[in-house]
Amino acid sequence: MEGVTINRSDSYYDENLMVKNRNRRVGDVLTNYIHPLASLGAGCEIGFFSVVGKNVTIGSGVHIGNCVTIHPGSVIRENCVIGDNCVIGKQPHPGATSRRRNDDDLRPPVIGRGCVLGSGVVLYAGLTMDQEVMVGDLASVRERCAIRRRVIVGRGVALENDVVVGENAKIQTGAYLTAHTVVGAGAFIAPMVITTNDNRMGRDEDSSCRLSGPRIDKNARVGAGALLLPGVAIAPETFVAAGSLVTGDTRPGAVFMGRPARYVRPVPEVEKR
Ligand SMILES: CC(C)(COP(=O)(O)OP(=O)(O)OC[C@H]1O[C@@H](n2cnc3c(N)ncnc32)[C@H](O)[C@@H]1OP(=O)(O)O)[C@@H](O)C(=O)NCCC(=O)NCCS
Repeated sequence: MEGVTINRSDSYYDENLMVKNRNRRVGDVLTNYIHPLASLGAGCEIGFFSVVGKNVTIGSGVHIGNCVTIHPGSVIRENCVIGDNCVIGKQPHPGATSRRRNDDDLRPPVIGRGCVLGSGVVLYAGLTMDQEVMVGDLASVRERCAIRRRVIVGRGVALENDVVVGENAKIQTGAYLTAHTVVGAGAFIAPMVITTNDNRMGRDEDSSCRLSGPRIDKNARVGAGALLLPGVAIAPETFVAAGSLVTGDTRPGAVFMGRPARYVRPVPEVEKR
């Protein structure tokens, strides 16, 4: 407990917490639970009704909101802000008919320093998130994703399993990145973009072997509501116009537009990075 600020009164930190709690007087409430083997750095703040699991490591100056669950072993480096109702380190539980099998032992997530999570964000196990990433309210980041530094993941974005996002990329509100999508550094994914990875929609024996997420290269831009078919490659500095349906690979530095998307012109030099 040394150096930890549990600043909103009445938190309990005790090996026998549950026993103690059972023995509490009527009218007393358990306001949060911090496992005795969790380590919290100096100046951490934890709101009401949050749970910090076994062997969690939290760096100094981390602010954790109300009703947050941090699963065992998770690492949260210094100066992060974790909004209300976040869940960190969730293990996946595939359904009975899911084609994904349960992963045996996904390692706990590591959240880099200075990351900011909005309210209701769910981060699964196996995630690596580098420093200063911002994740908006209600976004979900599935198992084994890798998110590089200074990425913005917008409100309500869904990143399925094994997505990789390069540094400084921006993924805007409501975008859906299917499993195995790769987003290059500095890429821009506009609101409500949809990506796909399975041309047979699950109708074969082992589709997991041939799932193919789109690849969106460095500094490419994909306009609002565009739809990318499985395995397409969006070349560096491509501009996909809003609402386009991308059925094949694009050329570097070119505007593609329409359904299906076709080359229309080069991207102006002033817009390139
Ligand atoms: C590509 C874009 C910039 C428009 O390009 P433009 O060349 O300036 O388009 P114009 O308005 O001059 O229209 C040229 C023609 O293309 C058509 N057009 C324009 N945008 C189109 C699109 N996204 N899809 C299909 N056709 C489009 C126009 O109807 C027009 O057709 P016409 O010549 O038959 O009348 C715009 O469509 C776009 O995608 N903007 C990105 C918006 C976005 O997603 N932002 C994300 C952050 S909010």
